[in-house]
Amino acid sequence: MIRVLILTILINEILGNAVSFNQPKFCPTVKWNSKGELFTATETSRSLPLILFIDTNNTIYVNSGKEDVISVWYKDHSHPKSISYLSKVEISSIFVIDNGDIYIAYLNNTISKWIASTDSFVHVMNGESICADLFIDVNNNLYCSMAWEDVVIKRSLYKDKETDIVIVAGTGSGGSAAYQLSSPIGIFVDTNLDLYVADRHNDRIQLFHSGERNATTVAGQGSLDFTISLLKPWSIVLDHEKYLFILDYGNGRIVRSGPHGFQCLLGCIAKEIKEYRLYDPSRLSFDVNGNLFVCDANGRRIQRFTLQKDSCEKSEYRISARKRCIVSDFCGDMLIP
Ligand SMILES: *[C@@H]1O[C@H](CO)[C@@H](O)[C@H](O)[C@H]1NC(C)=O
Ligand SMILES: *[C@@H]1O[C@H](CO)[C@@H](O)[C@H](O)[C@H]1NC(C)=O
Ligand SMILES: *[C@@H]1O[C@H](CO)[C@@H](O)[C@H](O)[C@H]1NC(C)=O
Repeated sequence: MIRVLILTILINEILGNAVSFNQPKFCPTVKWNSKGELFTATETSRSLPLILFIDTNNTIYVNSGKEDVISVWYKDHSHPKSISYLSKVEISSIFVIDNGDIYIAYLNNTISKWIASTDSFVHVMNGESICADLFIDVNNNLYCSMAWEDVVIKRSLYKDKETDIVIVAGTGSGGSAAYQLSSPIGIFVDTNLDLYVADRHNDRIQLFHSGERNATTVAGQGSLDFTISLLKPWSIVLDHEKYLFILDYGNGRIVRSGPHGFQCLLGCIAKEIKEYRLYDPSRLSFDVNGNLFVCDANGRRIQRFTLQKDSCEKSEYRISARKRCIVSDFCGDMLIP
């Protein structure tokens, strides 16, 4: 445990923690157990979205409990603490920033912030529509995907005024051209400020390079390197090397890109067995150890898929670049000097 802690600190120091969530660097042969373990079952009603966020302190945020509560598991605590947002209005998405404050999008188009140090809420903005997903980039810009309006909007959090809201993707009329979106949900902005969008009804993942309104399709329908089809992808997460992890909601699986192209990662085998199956995966987060946590929307559960610690052992990496791997790669056992 202590070794893991020291190594985690070491890795964080070396990589520099620009972001508040975990973006591990995996070795090329990395594998996860395809059998999931139940992290928590959820009591929220079926019609509500499930939220999930894991920060760099390994704190896990889920709306699993009673309907007006975010359950927060601090590192190594088996029982969650509850943050009550005391509202009749349910939430669609959260984003935790590096000081532990939580941005919360409500289904009444409002965004608030919960301030960790004072356990209080402040109003952030009123939108035109529901934010299906929230993201805050390294420059402190807030992004919100408005699935019903077919756009992604952005505003700087440095400014008090709400007047600086701009559309950064989509036009407001759904469609499949390079400049259009159709029911966008999951969004992810990398450190170059490039925006990835799960363009749900177009069955594709769109990449809008910073400042550009025409996107490149990087996965799914219409992509240049079309090797895997997606059905209503819900969200998209990037690892440290910008490989994609796609929540392929309609196919009940998680697809990833890697050094050898796309592959089905989870929900691919033994579809008849509950532990292997995903019933509409909607969100994904890595914990600090590289394990995958998945919101299984229709299973009403959060599943954990553990990293196979020995999956990197045979990789050439271990022999040829052991030292490099210790300091900068996520290679399970290899991390232990
Ligand atoms: C939406 O709900 C939040 C949380 O209850 C509340 O603070 C906010 O005022 C509401 N916004 C509107 C426009 O009703
Ligand atoms: C992680 O913990 C440190 C030390 O308690 C704190 O300063 C930091 O804000 C925490 N980060 C997050 C994302 O909560
Ligand atoms: C975006 O694509 C459209 C056609 O789909 C084209 O007319 C337009 O010039 C492009 N814009 C830029 C800035 O490339």
